[in-house]
Amino acid sequence: MSNLTNPSPSAATLVIVAHPDLEKSRINKRLTTELEQRGNVTVHRLYETYPDEKIDVAREQALLTAHGRIVLQFPLYWYSSPALLKKWMDLVFEQGWAHGKGGDKLKGKELLIAISSGGTGSMYQAGGFHNYSYSELLRPFQQTANLTGMIYRPPFVVSGIREVSDEQLEKYAADYAVYAEGQPVLSRA
Ligand SMILES: Cc1cc2nc3c(=O)[nH]c(=O)nc-3n(C[C@H](O)[C@H](O)[C@H](O)COP(=O)(O)O)c2cc1C
Repeated sequence: MSNLTNPSPSAATLVIVAHPDLEKSRINKRLTTELEQRGNVTVHRLYETYPDEKIDVAREQALLTAHGRIVLQFPLYWYSSPALLKKWMDLVFEQGWAHGKGGDKLKGKELLIAISSGGTGSMYQAGGFHNYSYSELLRPFQQTANLTGMIYRPPFVVSGIREVSDEQLEKYAADYAVYAEGQPVLSRA
């Protein structure tokens, strides 16, 4: 994991990268290395940290506490996240910590979602091949933000990955670094 360089927890970004095989990835690998090279955010490669998928809940909660902006980055798998990110949320967003009585530890933090998808943007609309928009499919994350008092931001989407040229991917990577630091980027979805 890259070091936390931002001294203010409220302005610091934690990026949870959930890709089961980042070395073989094209899109998420490039997005991740861009953030790591710039060094302005904390990058947490979930599958590499937990190859046995045994999540250290206290460690993850401490990481979340130290950051004010949380980015969940993953390839869209079956209209959702890869399984380890779901497990991470199931275990880390505990009752009494993230929600319920006394569960206010995520309150006021920003939640950002960064996804890549094989389908093109035009497929993700009513009447299109996949029928539903990315915003609709990401509702569980949005409502998780609502329940935990987080502020949900518009997602960053790299869609139609087979049509993304190397040159376009470089532009996406630069835009993503801006996005992860909390600044608005025009959506390309
Ligand atoms: C198990 C699995 C499920 C997938 N499900 C979807 C999906 O629901 N929608 C979609 O657009 N692409 C889907 N894809 C394509 C991935 O989103 C795509 O390969 C990935 O975003 C590419 O990013 P990468 O180069 O970082 O691996 C799926 C791929 C796999 C392996």
